[in-house]
Amino acid sequence: MKFFVDTADVKEIRELNDLGLLDGVTTNPSLILKSGGNILEVTKEICDIVDGPVSAEVVATEYSEMMREADILSKIADNVCIKLPLTLDGLKACKALTSSGRMVNVTLCFSANQALLAAKAGATFISPFIGRVDDMGIEGMELIAEIRTIYDNYSFNTEILAASIRTTNHVKQAALIGADVATIPPATLKSLVKHPLTDKGLETFLADWAKTGQKIG
Ligand code: E4P
Repeated sequence: MKFFVDTADVKEIRELNDLGLLDGVTTNPSLILKSGGNILEVTKEICDIVDGPVSAEVVATEYSEMMREADILSKIADNVCIKLPLTLDGLKACKALTSSGRMVNVTLCFSANQALLAAKAGATFISPFIGRVDDMGIEGMELIAEIRTIYDNYSFNTEILAASIRTTNHVKQAALIGADVATIPPATLKSLVKHPLTDKGLETFLADWAKTGQKIG
């Protein structure tokens, strides 16, 4: 499973990239707002740090304007992945962009049928929003499972990018189902390492080691 980080915070991205944990980044207009930066400058900075796909989202809702914005975003760097909303205009733009060799992340997916359409439009990634489906009182993870089945039935190459991840359990469940990618908020990504028995075990080993009076090297 590939790990993307879901943030436009350059400091967090640099830290996670230095750990060797990052395969890509996803941003959205709300995350750009939170970063306080200009979309073109922030995206360029992120692309200079991370080798993998960096999703940058268009804000136009009409096809030709989406294509114009996608052209501007694409010029930032080769690893920019154009993020498009799951609308008819978005799907049309997806088809046009992927046919010309661009990476596209189709976002705001809340149903298996929407994911089917995105795959047919040649999307590189489909982003089903687990947390926001959970918020409606429906099991978001079932959406990931349905999409996995449909994509496998027809051997679609579109990668399932589990998005709107809120918990470490979301990451585990998405991995068990076989999502290709998880885009994870920085704090959740870092907390995947945590286990109380790891902390306790390390504490005991270090205490016993101190009693030996030895040094390595
Ligand atoms: C995905 O690409 C989105 O940026 C993100 O996962 C949305 O998550 P949220 O529902 O926590 O805003």
